[in-house]
Amino acid sequence: MKSFEGKLAVVTGGGYGMGRSLVRQLAREGAAVAACDLSADNLAETLALVEGESAGAKVTSHICDVSNPQAIAEFRREVEEQQATTSVNLLFNNAGIGGGGSFVDGSIDEWEKTFNVCWGGVYHMCRAFLPMLVASDEGHVINTSSVNGFWAAIGRETPHTSYSAAKFAVKGFTEALKTDLEVNAPHVKCSVVMPGHIGTGIARNSAEILGGNSLFDMTEAQVAQARARMERAGMNLSNISDDTIREMAAQRADDFEHSAPTSADEAAQIILRDVKAERWRILVGDDAYQLDALVRSDPEAAYDSEFYDRLESEGVFNTIMREQGEG
Ligand SMILES: NC(=O)c1ccc[n+]([C@@H]2O[C@H](COP(=O)([O-])OP(=O)(O)OC[C@H]3O[C@@H](n4cnc5c(N)ncnc54)[C@H](O)[C@@H]3O)[C@@H](O)[C@H]2O)c1
Repeated sequence: MKSFEGKLAVVTGGGYGMGRSLVRQLAREGAAVAACDLSADNLAETLALVEGESAGAKVTSHICDVSNPQAIAEFRREVEEQQATTSVNLLFNNAGIGGGGSFVDGSIDEWEKTFNVCWGGVYHMCRAFLPMLVASDEGHVINTSSVNGFWAAIGRETPHTSYSAAKFAVKGFTEALKTDLEVNAPHVKCSVVMPGHIGTGIARNSAEILGGNSLFDMTEAQVAQARARMERAGMNLSNISDDTIREMAAQRADDFEHSAPTSADEAAQIILRDVKAERWRILVGDDAYQLDALVRSDPEAAYDSEFYDRLESEGVFNTIMREQGEG
């Protein structure tokens, strides 16, 4: 697909972060967009931004939880009706949350919710929308995995099981889908996106979606969990009050967004450029390229202490490893 002009794109998680940047840039390039999210307020802000900068763009917004197949069926019905279409050209399965760190010792609900959004969202969206891509004259499905789709860690001694399992699934599925599409629907392409650290609201949004409240309003049990995570990361918190822990958690989520090497807008530009170039494997950010090379150079050593030493000495992922405690 050499141009997005006149195409119809579906974007999940369009209310914030990379999803919002994708919606804005697609609209600027003349695409119609159907964006979904959990947050009506954030979607409304995305739409207001588009209206301010891309007059006449046909962007519709839809509340949909991508872990829920019934909600996705309703989303598809709304897209057909509001965009007056039976086909779709682009499907960006972007929505995701971080969480479900420990399989051994963590909450089963959080583990399953994270997996069901990050993998289930991609699976159910593809089930529902792939027929509409096949019905188009030119289609492309873009599934957002992560560097955690090839490296199942986020920092030293920090379990990261649900998110990693889901992102490996997204990568494996998309790679296998490539051949399936070539055989059965050659006019539809697919790409897997593997971002490094991108400046978005994922740390804050995930904590709020999983916890049901803002970081400033964490319950005592949530504070205790945050305290334990920070202590595991080497901090001495013995004289720190619960309110200070709440402020620190919010600050770390803020730092995750504002001290990243790549912004959400830059990430969207890279993704859209590589989709046009029909690259199926899209790494986003220098840190993603560095990590990919390091893991490939010695896969057996990828979880050794020396590997983390090497990441630290080369400055790869340092911020994400410092801030991961709240993801
Ligand atoms: N930010 C990073 O460093 C990074 C790195 C690698 C991969 N990713 C992936 O990039 C994608 C986009 O994340 P982001 O960093 O822009 O985060 P973000 O939190 O800024 O944006 C994600 C959006 O998805 C929405 N969302 C969450 N769960 C949803 C659900 N069940 N249904 C519908 N919408 C939902 C959120 O409300 C939010 O608006 C995710 O899949 C994430 O895992 C992010």
